[in-house]
Amino acid sequence: MSNFDEILDRTGSSSVKWDLCRSTLGDENLLPMWVADMDFRTPSFVTDEIQRMMSFGVLGYTAIPQRWYDAIIAWYASRFSCGIVKEEMTFIPGIVRGIAFVEQCFTQPGDKVIVLSPVYHPFFLVSRKNGREVVYNSLILNEEARQYDIDFDTLSEQIKGCKVMILSNPHNPGGKVWTKEELARIAEIAADNGCLVISDEIHCDLTQPGYVHHPFFTVSEKAASNSIVFGAPSKAFNMPGVVSSYAIVKNPEIFKRFEAFLSASEFDRGNMFAYDTCAACYEKGSEWLAEMLAYVKSNYDFLQEFLRDRLPMIHTLDLQATYLVFLDCRELGLEQKDLVDLFVRKAGVVLNDGTMFGPEGKGFMRLNIGCPRSMLEEGLTRLEKAIKG
Ligand SMILES: Cc1ncc(COP(=O)(O)O)c(C=O)c1O
Repeated sequence: MSNFDEILDRTGSSSVKWDLCRSTLGDENLLPMWVADMDFRTPSFVTDEIQRMMSFGVLGYTAIPQRWYDAIIAWYASRFSCGIVKEEMTFIPGIVRGIAFVEQCFTQPGDKVIVLSPVYHPFFLVSRKNGREVVYNSLILNEEARQYDIDFDTLSEQIKGCKVMILSNPHNPGGKVWTKEELARIAEIAADNGCLVISDEIHCDLTQPGYVHHPFFTVSEKAASNSIVFGAPSKAFNMPGVVSSYAIVKNPEIFKRFEAFLSASEFDRGNMFAYDTCAACYEKGSEWLAEMLAYVKSNYDFLQEFLRDRLPMIHTLDLQATYLVFLDCRELGLEQKDLVDLFVRKAGVVLNDGTMFGPEGKGFMRLNIGCPRSMLEEGLTRLEKAIKG
């Protein structure tokens, strides 16, 4: 049984979440609850693999082992009941980079890329930095279900002329698991408009029991023939610093073109730890993952109880996947800059500003609950003090 209550001191590790946050904002007492890595110890089946590689005493060039393919294929078969083969898979050195590579490979500067916002901000930042025009299709917050719905009518209009759609599946920052019907409809609209879908599934292994993640290529023929699916063990097994991700492309022509683009610059090669750590997660990680997800769920329950009893003007979205909770703070009635100031300056708790993910995030803050319970309690208590004075 892992100890998710353990407090780890990450200061001095050049961690973006801790060190960069505190040095940038100039306050050593800030409690960071933002960037999407977890404050849980990376599981030993990952670190053991790194130790094993180190034990050879040489940090040399490393080939992609067959084990890497086998582990990913077996994981998709057991977890998502779907088949993939080696010829549909390629390594990519990070998913955000993968998005940029798809845009560089399949589109031209000035071409349009569509996102469903609010959404993980690098989707539009990377697209803009690569000279692509971003079209924002606003998700609709279903107040009753406490989750986002897709406005398919506006999507059908706005997607016209777009070359690529970038989908967060499951959704960050909302924590929603898209249904098979929603994904199939997206696939149909995209295919009918000649718009290639990138389905970023980095959070898929963080789907809570009771919800079903559908790899995009499984939802329909159109989805399989017109998509690039990105996956990685980095979020679920807390190892994003290793940089280990992959693409699954069912359409052989799209695969060939993408693979040729990647290999021309050796973007399809990872560092020596990238392959075996990934394989180890998928070979040995099921039990740890189930325990971790149960802990995150209990953190979510704790959060909801705390808000209900002590801060009833703040609400959560329904957490179906991820360890990121989009906090609905609209009832506080604050301007966005004052809301951010309340959390960061007054409470000393660093969350992501909701508008970072698009204008639809106004009145929201994104909270990372992938942390020990005592840390979550500390953050919420600081917030309560700041609000109640
Ligand atoms: C939806 C989504 N995609 C991609 C990433 C980052 O992936 P990578 O570090 O592989 O670029 C994140 C990190 O938070 C994310 O939430």
